[in-house]
Amino acid sequence: MTIRLGVLVSGSGSNLQALIDAIAAGGIDAEIAVVISSRPGVLALARAAEAGIETVALSPDDYRYPAVADKRITAELTARDVDYVVMAGYMRMLGSRVLSAFPDRVINLHPALLPSFPGASGIEDAFKAGVKVTGVTVHFANEVYDEGPIIAQRAVPVLEGDTIESLAARMHEVEHELLPEVVRLCSEGRVRIDSDRIVRIDHE
Ligand code: GRF
Repeated sequence: MTIRLGVLVSGSGSNLQALIDAIAAGGIDAEIAVVISSRPGVLALARAAEAGIETVALSPDDYRYPAVADKRITAELTARDVDYVVMAGYMRMLGSRVLSAFPDRVINLHPALLPSFPGASGIEDAFKAGVKVTGVTVHFANEVYDEGPIIAQRAVPVLEGDTIESLAARMHEVEHELLPEVVRLCSEGRVRIDSDRIVRIDHE
């Protein structure tokens, strides 16, 4: 059964594009039912429109109060009967209204190896801390920012001579692989959360 996705974005939408391309290439039985942006005018919305995907842009009034934004987002997602919500660079935590409407169905992408370097600047924070390995995390969102059961992680080495920009470029390449991979696993029903809240991937 084709799973229906709602994708939340705030900016350039390169991860949304990776997902669109991976689905178009085949091998992921999923359909993006709607792309919701925290603001109008972002490149992610143009990418969605170009792919023929329905879009919703929150107005500044919608977005100003988290509870108002959550209500609107929940309504848009439930109206389209989505199975999973993918936060692909959506720059604010979702509230309990959205999370309880999609329990263990909200996937977040974070540019660091959680639980290290949570927050809005994971790449910079890891770089400035001088770590030699950072990476990408895809996890289920819960009500604590950048917490919640980890689905997949992939390491990215910090190289001698790296700048934040060069590191960020390699991080994004890994994000663009890992996020579609996780969506594929979800579409195949191979991701489950144990009673200990640890994610187990069923391998054939
Ligand atoms: C990604 O680095 C993601 O990890 C972070 O925001 C960025 C979004 O990039 N949360 P894009 O909009 O998908 O290009």
